[in-house]
Amino acid sequence: MTTIASALAAYPLPRLESRLLLMHVVPELTHARIVGYPERVLASDVYARFCALAERRVAGEPLAYLLGMREFYGRPFAVTPDVLIPRPETEHLVEAALARVGHQPAEVLDLGCGSGAIAVTLALEAPSWRVSAVDVSAAALTVARGNAERLGARVDFLQGSWFAPLPPGGCFQLIVSNPPYIAASDHHLDEGDVRFEPRLALTDGGDGLACLREIAAGAPARLAPGGWLMVEHGYDQGEAMRALLAAQGFVEVETLPDLAGLDRVTLGRRP
Ligand SMILES: C[S@@+](CC[C@H](N)C(=O)[O-])C[C@H]1O[C@@H](n2cnc3c(N)ncnc32)[C@H](O)[C@@H]1O
Repeated sequence: MTTIASALAAYPLPRLESRLLLMHVVPELTHARIVGYPERVLASDVYARFCALAERRVAGEPLAYLLGMREFYGRPFAVTPDVLIPRPETEHLVEAALARVGHQPAEVLDLGCGSGAIAVTLALEAPSWRVSAVDVSAAALTVARGNAERLGARVDFLQGSWFAPLPPGGCFQLIVSNPPYIAASDHHLDEGDVRFEPRLALTDGGDGLACLREIAAGAPARLAPGGWLMVEHGYDQGEAMRALLAAQGFVEVETLPDLAGLDRVTLGRRP
């Protein structure tokens, strides 16, 4: 006979993670019920399902994949191992876009949309924007389309590499991207949660700047005059990114820090 209290104590996991896994298995459980009724007995099949998840978590699988969900900008996004788990740092990109472009009608493009976290959030936060989103991964686009539908966002999804799937003549007021920017040699790729995320979402297979270069080079032809390019990048890529944007003729080039004070988002404007 296993009680809530003994289930929570059965694995060397942070208390909050154990609770979230248990609440995932027993949807009617709340934090308050867990705290209030620790002596409640769990059915054996429920405990077995909890154990299966807890063992996977102990083996390192990200909590977000086990729960199938991660919150981004206050909304729940479905996530699977086909997509990057949305990061809080990426909310800076969303905030920069909303602050710079405002709420007037705009054509907006998200390159490498993954779960759809950025594109769906922008479409919901700025309903007058027309948002298109591209990803090379068909599996990621399935997740993104599901999120857009469930959260009630209108986004046009396209499959292909960066600008390739766009119809000719597209003219955007804003292009955003959080592309793969980890260098192939970076040891972080083999550590922690990152080990379980798609390589395609994390690394360009080179020095970390390959996708950022391609996006910076292709953006001017796709931006309206005065349009913005905003990209997320690694903490040590701000200077390189500013140089890339300046070399492409962008003006008002600036790097914004994340909450830790690290370079995170660089933006520039087509003259
Ligand atoms: C770092 S993830 C970002 C996902 C999502 N935008 C987010 O911020 O959570 C990068 C995404 O770029 C996609 N990607 C990688 N190479 C690509 C390419 N050549 N063209 C389009 N998308 C690509 C990956 O499939 C992945 O979904």
